[in-house]
Amino acid sequence: MRSLSLLLVLSPLTLALNVPRQASGFFNPAQGGGSMLTDTGNGLGEPLNVIISGLSSSQVLSVSGVTNYAKAIGFSTECLGIHLGDPQSANLGDGNGAKNQSIELREDFGDPNLGTCLESLNGGNHFRVFIQNGAQHDTGALFLAASQEQNAANNHNIVANGYDIGRDNLVSMAVGTKSFGGVTYQTTSQTVSGLLPVGSAGINHGIAIDGIVNVLTVTVQ
Ligand SMILES: *[C@@H]1O[C@H](CO)[C@@H](O)[C@H](O)[C@H]1NC(C)=O
Repeated sequence: MRSLSLLLVLSPLTLALNVPRQASGFFNPAQGGGSMLTDTGNGLGEPLNVIISGLSSSQVLSVSGVTNYAKAIGFSTECLGIHLGDPQSANLGDGNGAKNQSIELREDFGDPNLGTCLESLNGGNHFRVFIQNGAQHDTGALFLAASQEQNAANNHNIVANGYDIGRDNLVSMAVGTKSFGGVTYQTTSQTVSGLLPVGSAGINHGIAIDGIVNVLTVTVQ
């Protein structure tokens, strides 16, 4: 009897520990009918391989907020506002259904004004941003599809292993203390597996991925 009541007391706690939605600051899109792959329009997708947690400072979790953050870590808006390529959409399982990317940011090579023109020309890292803010799972988290591109002469195809490389480059640029526009950010990263598949099935260009997602928590100082 005693052990039964103990079990009854403990089981909700155990459940809570196994469902770390609040603790992780995002909702797994697959649990809401969505996907951790974008829709590129050809039946394949790019992996959403970086998440900026909803537990980050709220000032980061918007288009203007993530744009300033991107400038702090070495990315900027597209060259002269010219967008190359079609937008992609994603269903983050939050009740919004499929929605186009909110913004795309490119590595700026130290020049937030014109540097992304170099990225467009020479290739480099870039990421698309999708916001998980639908009424059903309004976590505020930002889901990023990061990849390393070839140069314009190669039509901006993704380099071999370019999704994992793009993720790792973005994370190494982001982690630590970075500033832009009078705002200082402190970023920590955790790796999560099990959200993305491993391998190349369903992945754009048939590029294999290792299935790892980095979850960043960004705190404004
Ligand atoms: C995304 O944008 C394209 C081009 O502007 C548009 O044709 C398409 O309908 C949009 N998709 C979604 C899901 O909103």
